[in-house]
Amino acid sequence: MNLVELTDAEFVKFRDLIYRASGILIGENKRVLVSNRVRRRLRATGIAGYSQYFDFLRSPAGTSEMQPFLDVVTTNETYFFRDASHYQWLGDEYLSGAIQEASARRRPRSLRLWSAACSTGEEPYSMALKLTARRRELAGWRLEILGTDLSASVLATARSGVYDDRALHRVGPDDRRTYFDESPPGRWTLKPEIRSMVTFRSHNLLFPLGGEPFDCIFLKNVLIYFDAASKRKVVDVILAALARGGNLVIGPTEGIQGMLGSLEKVKPWLYRKGG
Ligand SMILES: C[S@@+](CC[C@H](N)C(=O)[O-])C[C@H]1O[C@@H](n2cnc3c(N)ncnc32)[C@H](O)[C@@H]1O
Repeated sequence: MNLVELTDAEFVKFRDLIYRASGILIGENKRVLVSNRVRRRLRATGIAGYSQYFDFLRSPAGTSEMQPFLDVVTTNETYFFRDASHYQWLGDEYLSGAIQEASARRRPRSLRLWSAACSTGEEPYSMALKLTARRRELAGWRLEILGTDLSASVLATARSGVYDDRALHRVGPDDRRTYFDESPPGRWTLKPEIRSMVTFRSHNLLFPLGGEPFDCIFLKNVLIYFDAASKRKVVDVILAALARGGNLVIGPTEGIQGMLGSLEKVKPWLYRKGG
């Protein structure tokens, strides 16, 4: 049995399955990557070949294998304060505006933020650190941060709040000392008061989220491998979840600027819904 690489037919079957389940469209040039990642699941399940594994995935007995399969084929790279300008805007301009509007009674003293496709949690926790930096002005506010992702394993890491040096390379020494416990050296655990600010939930961006709308949504570094039809679906989900007057922050590779015509473009990466 050749387990080195998927055959043409196997690759197409896995590619179509990944597309239907997640919206991610895997290019022909990613065959080795997919082969390597699926092989990890062959080892974990003890299944001998790619085709048998595919059949298992599609069978009733394989329903619970879908999640670990999606875990291995998604890319979860992230770190604290990725795209510094986004967090500078959030911590300064955005929060100052919200605080001023609330004191003028032009908005309620509440903020709901959503990190859509949050991976291992660095993005929503970075939001939490920005809110915490202004906790005196935000005293008495209802503050909610939601982090969602398709992958269960990244959400487990997110909930644990434990990170390595690489994830923290943009976190300054003061914030490290104040908001993390380091033990052993190079292993950083977020303090409970920051962890408790974020709720994590499993969610596929191709489907509506439901619930109350959000004042600010971060949608970053997730849609790069989505085709136009899947991007459109995600944009509709995001627009439905954005409150009137709410802000949408997008990553440099989302490629959805042309689909955001109903929003006001504030910066190349920042869009606002009319209020
Ligand atoms: C590269 S990470 C981005 C993390 C963070 N937003 C950032 O910018 O650093 C992309 C994440 O998107 C998630 N993802 C992929 N397809 C998804 C989908 N259809 N719904 C929800 N999350 C998805 C992956 O599991 C992965 O954790």
